[in-house]
Amino acid sequence: MKKFKVGVIGCGTISPMHLQSLKMVENVQLEAVCDVVKERAVDKANRYGCRYYTDYKEMLDRENLDAVHVCTPHYLHAPMAIYAANRGVNVLTEKPMAISLQDADTMVKVAMDNNVTLGVIFQNRYNSASVLIKNTLESGELGRIISGRLSVIWHRSDAYYSESDWRGTLDKEGGGVIINQSIHTLDLMRWFVDAPIDYVEASISNRCHPKVEVEDCAEGVIAYKNGVSALFYVTTNYSYDVPVELELHCEKGVAKLIADKAVIRFKDGREVSADLDESEVMDYGDGVKSYWGFSHYKQIRAFYESLAKGEKPFIDGTEARKTQEMVCAIYRSGKENRRIYL
Ligand SMILES: NC(=O)c1ccc[n+]([C@@H]2O[C@H](COP(=O)([O-])OP(=O)(O)OC[C@H]3O[C@@H](n4cnc5c(N)ncnc54)[C@H](O)[C@@H]3O)[C@@H](O)[C@H]2O)c1
Repeated sequence: MKKFKVGVIGCGTISPMHLQSLKMVENVQLEAVCDVVKERAVDKANRYGCRYYTDYKEMLDRENLDAVHVCTPHYLHAPMAIYAANRGVNVLTEKPMAISLQDADTMVKVAMDNNVTLGVIFQNRYNSASVLIKNTLESGELGRIISGRLSVIWHRSDAYYSESDWRGTLDKEGGGVIINQSIHTLDLMRWFVDAPIDYVEASISNRCHPKVEVEDCAEGVIAYKNGVSALFYVTTNYSYDVPVELELHCEKGVAKLIADKAVIRFKDGREVSADLDESEVMDYGDGVKSYWGFSHYKQIRAFYESLAKGEKPFIDGTEARKTQEMVCAIYRSGKENRRIYL
């Protein structure tokens, strides 16, 4: 079996989900990690048994990698993905794929020009709950979607921003609660509705985090060309992380997602549900089993399966770009205080 030689750039909070997943995927070999903070790179290299770098260009120039995972602050996803693609290296980047639509377009183009695969992490699409809703919608059992709503009501402290050199800044994070915390749920809604967007209309503001530049609150509507209106309310101003909610009001029932659980109630009285599978846990080697990360593992495994088959991955650059376009339109609508047609 061919083993893909892999590198990971960025050894911060999200990196264990990638590194542990790579350990569990059969057809990959982790060759190197990279972080500008040397201790982080050394620690992960020791823990996962690979070489380390503090300069991603050096890693990509020296190692003969088949793929690289980009786990760095948002503004670095585009330049890192582009550098890798131009060297013929496949890329799997964390969300959001970029901080602008222009960068996202360039990433897709450069990947295409170099005949490499670009994948983007939206691991929540792999949760059993999301899969149940998607499959039920596709089966036609729920009929047409009439409208949808979602809410992400979380807490992010001042320390969350002050302890990071990129979170809370427009040039490095690219935005706040929309592009960082809520993008997963906005992406899920877009995937469920599965239709081109007509327009978005939103208001965004910073209400409770005066020390940062990015928005901590947004609400609005995403109007799809198939007639579905999806309402959203997202904020990081609450006192704790309320489980994320997403609801689809359909002709023949209501599908509800609350955190990791989906419940579908049909008008005829039937009910189906999906929750976390207790066998799907990650072991990060510290004795603590965690559900957090298993969908990363599923997406990463699927990414390498598609590479091995020469097929495009489920969430490739072109697919993720649609979510990027939606998110950028939400920002424009909020800034220009008007409806934005896509
Ligand atoms: N999919 C998810 O659910 C999920 C969850 C958390 C974070 N993320 C995403 O993962 C990415 C990273 O987030 P994080 O929370 O791990 O951030 P982090 O700040 O904890 O880690 C980022 C790491 O990148 C390193 N870095 C910065 N510049 C670099 C450079 N030029 N070269 C190499 N390394 C560099 C930093 O030193 C740091 O160790 C973001 O895109 C974030 O949105 C995704």
